[in-house]
Amino acid sequence: MEEFDLVVRGGTVVTPADTMRADVGVRGGRIVALAASLPASLAGSGRVVDAGGLLVLPGGVDSHCHIEQLEANGTVHEERFATASASAFAGGTTSAICFASQFRGHPIGPTLDAYRLRARAAMMDYSFHQIITDTTPETLAELPRLVASGIRSFKVFLTYDPLHVDDAQFLQVLVAAKRLGAMVAVHCENYAAITFMTRALIEAGLAAPKYHAWSRPPVVEREATHRAIALAELVDQPIQVFHVSCAEVAEEIARARARGLKVWGETCPQYLTLTAADMDRPGFEGAKFMCSPPPRDEGEHARIWTMIQGGVLDVISSDHCGYSFGGNTGKAQNGREAPFRDIPNGIPGLAARLPIVFSEGVAKGRISENQFVSLVATNPARLYGLAAKGRIAIGADADIVLWDPKRQVRLTSALMQHAIDYTPYEGMEVTGWPVATIRRGEVVMENGTIRAAPGSGRFLARGPYPEATPRGVVANGFDPAFDPALAPGPAA
Ligand code: URP
Ligand code: ZN
Ligand code: ZN
Repeated sequence: MEEFDLVVRGGTVVTPADTMRADVGVRGGRIVALAASLPASLAGSGRVVDAGGLLVLPGGVDSHCHIEQLEANGTVHEERFATASASAFAGGTTSAICFASQFRGHPIGPTLDAYRLRARAAMMDYSFHQIITDTTPETLAELPRLVASGIRSFKVFLTYDPLHVDDAQFLQVLVAAKRLGAMVAVHCENYAAITFMTRALIEAGLAAPKYHAWSRPPVVEREATHRAIALAELVDQPIQVFHVSCAEVAEEIARARARGLKVWGETCPQYLTLTAADMDRPGFEGAKFMCSPPPRDEGEHARIWTMIQGGVLDVISSDHCGYSFGGNTGKAQNGREAPFRDIPNGIPGLAARLPIVFSEGVAKGRISENQFVSLVATNPARLYGLAAKGRIAIGADADIVLWDPKRQVRLTSALMQHAIDYTPYEGMEVTGWPVATIRRGEVVMENGTIRAAPGSGRFLARGPYPEATPRGVVANGFDPAFDPALAPGPAA
């Protein structure tokens, strides 16, 4: 038998289906052996890592991370690809899908090239969702090349200036994605309703951070989710509803799935731990918790867990957003007296994701360790076509986390190892912590020390995959995505 580069010995391997005592043999960055016991001699000159007493989990896959993103006002998120990678490894995540954002009225190509350049500093493996903000013929004509280059998912915003698309534009994106075999991720909130409520609140003098939640209550998210699902059904295009904040939104997804639609739902740790009351902390402090959709009331946490347990929400991502609390480009970019409308949305959570979900989920008996693995690694990898990621299996990339299920840790911003000056989870006690992170067979984090070289992360090109394939069911048999130019010609 050939020698291994690395052997992980004596741990408890967790997959979505099983929990088993097994050693893991790694060669060439991939898992090549899984056995009850692998002789240490097979490690040859390679390394043996002792995982006694630890869980051996697939590296986390975070399918929703805003890293070094350029905003329309010219600011860039403080988090960079290198610092985000350190944060990812510190928290047990080895791959992330980040965003390349189109500026409305501008071609995608050059912007995407700039993102690709910035991402070359990454240490984690990464891909991109392409944010599409307009649907001109020129933009739509760019999409085939984009997909051919391995970017097989688009994000659309149904709200936010200047990102949102209207229903007609959304349908155009759905049809384009269907023709190309790409997944569509949707930010579901009603743009007109939020604009209306925001104006009314500010005119009434209600402008503090806590009114962010008042401007976009659950009904605004539920309506947009219902509409997004209906439009996706109309053209038969698979979608994932991003960052579901409350059960009444998840119910829309449950109904869609019961009808057999290819609709998935994602939630995030903030909707399991934070509340709207956090935005009511004194002074500007509430800005630390502002994201969209906003955290709801405490009762919602249990309702979201029910939706997770029932499989309606089957991905938990971070929606990591690299805005610092201080400085000129973060939360305070418009001053500490700015009305909520002018405070950037989004909170950091890349490193905190696995510890919070494990602690709130597994340690508190709400989910099994197998469900945990599915939610934070296997399901996001499958949904976005990352075939080699999110699994402890022969042939998969050797992305592995050694996890101490008993370790108790108090979260601090320093522990997150990010470039941001706060964590919204400061002081939170968690049970369960990553003690080592292995990326493609290389130990990249050990007891909090990051060991990877900047630039060692790889771009993950994504090919065709089943989840992004339409069902083949359209009303009246008429397929608005049918393109005669793409149809096979008559047989010779
Ligand atoms: O508030 C949030 N979630 N900011 C990040 C952008 C988005 O909507 O995903
Ligand atoms: Zn969003
Ligand atoms: Zn986001």
